[in-house]
Amino acid sequence: MPADTARRRAAVVGLGARARLFTQALAGPYSDRIEAAAFCDVNSHRMAVHNEWIDASVPSYAAEDFGELLRRERIDLVVVTSVDRTHDDYIVRALEAGCDVVTEKPMTTDADKARRILDAVHRTGREVRVAFNYRYNPVHSAVRELLASGATGEVGSVHFEWLLDLRHGADYFRRWHRDKANSGGLMVHKATHHFDLVNWWLGTEPETVYAQGGLFFYGDEAGARRGLARDYTRAHGSPAAKDDPFAVHLKDSPLLSALYLDAEAEDGYHRDQNVFGPGVTIEDDMAVLVRYATGATLTYHLTAYAPWEGYRIAFNGSEGRLELLVEESTWTRSEVAVPGDSAVLHGESAGDTAGRTELTLRRFWEPPREIEVPTGEGGHGGGDVRMLADLFGEPAPDPLGRAANATDGARSLVTGLAANRSFESGGPVRTRDLLDS
Ligand SMILES: NC(=O)c1ccc[n+]([C@@H]2O[C@H](COP(=O)([O-])OP(=O)(O)OC[C@H]3O[C@@H](n4cnc5c(N)ncnc54)[C@H](O)[C@@H]3O)[C@@H](O)[C@H]2O)c1
Repeated sequence: MPADTARRRAAVVGLGARARLFTQALAGPYSDRIEAAAFCDVNSHRMAVHNEWIDASVPSYAAEDFGELLRRERIDLVVVTSVDRTHDDYIVRALEAGCDVVTEKPMTTDADKARRILDAVHRTGREVRVAFNYRYNPVHSAVRELLASGATGEVGSVHFEWLLDLRHGADYFRRWHRDKANSGGLMVHKATHHFDLVNWWLGTEPETVYAQGGLFFYGDEAGARRGLARDYTRAHGSPAAKDDPFAVHLKDSPLLSALYLDAEAEDGYHRDQNVFGPGVTIEDDMAVLVRYATGATLTYHLTAYAPWEGYRIAFNGSEGRLELLVEESTWTRSEVAVPGDSAVLHGESAGDTAGRTELTLRRFWEPPREIEVPTGEGGHGGGDVRMLADLFGEPAPDPLGRAANATDGARSLVTGLAANRSFESGGPVRTRDLLDS
């Protein structure tokens, strides 16, 4: 954000679980620079819960009163943490009102909406920052530094596998994400992080995408076929959900009760749906092949039903290979079907089963070298706190180019949007055809 001696006024839109990172930052360490001046949500209960958490009485506006909020509250910055499909509307209206924007990922959910946002940035000259916290994870910064320093020579290809475990992966099938219209599917909602990292690490953008994906594990058909299905719609109050290891029991968690169970009478948002129930329109197993502008290729796989959580990446270069292994959880406990606060707040897997991180440089004709990597405290491998400092703290140099703007947001989206189109057509998709048409 630009240097400004005056205290800036921020509105937060979408006061769910993720918003807590931002409301607490604005009410806490960054309150001398920027003030939580207004909240906006379709659900007044969740806004009241946030006010309680930060011990404040920030004025709260219904979604249909967002225009009035902008007019009345003299807002400088809008922080968008609502359901993905709603991001574009708030971003564009905020920019048109002369505000800057910080938006959660994915920036939006389809190509038309991405074009609207890019156009509004161009027209207004205001700034959009996309909250790509993974860029701020110290191990990812180390990868960027190594590649930029030429440690592997020119990168010819990347092999990238991401596993979501039965606890975290299942969560996308319990609530709004399960409908592709809300989230763009996991190719958009989740993989936007991963495709952004590859764009950033290689300093390039995707040109051609071919993909295959489907619903292999969750959903009613797969559940019935494997005998995993139980007869309930949502877990709360359903005897059939009691011993279902995939069920989340809202009333067992003070945080989930406050944020969702006690709020649902207002909007009917059920956060505890049956992952083997009908109505799932997203994929859980996705394979993608990408060609970049530099000529490099990526093979990528995302699985949402794995016994452990984490990722493996290998960069094949003209002078060697860089390999990264991150085990965020080594196994999934069935008794943690009720996610702890950390998982709910940070969208992460169980910290108590966390494994290792290994970064290995294998240069040609040399023995492998283990690179010592700094580890970070807090959500997303320490990425969250570093990102907050960059978004809300004193302006600081950014030698790794970690700050992501709307163009980065759109570039990270096109791989997933093209993959979604390729799932349907069965053929390769040129990203240019998506954003230009
Ligand atoms: N960067 C990360 O690592 C990370 C982690 C988790 C979530 N997120 C992102 O944060 C956002 C919120 O996710 P969450 O897990 O907090 O979801 P959530 O369901 O807990 O919260 C979403 C909030 O949006 C509100 N909402 C729905 N429709 C709205 C509308 N039309 N106008 C205003 N508010 C509306 C809901 O009432 C709810 O309070 C998503 O975009 C998600 O992708 C990012």
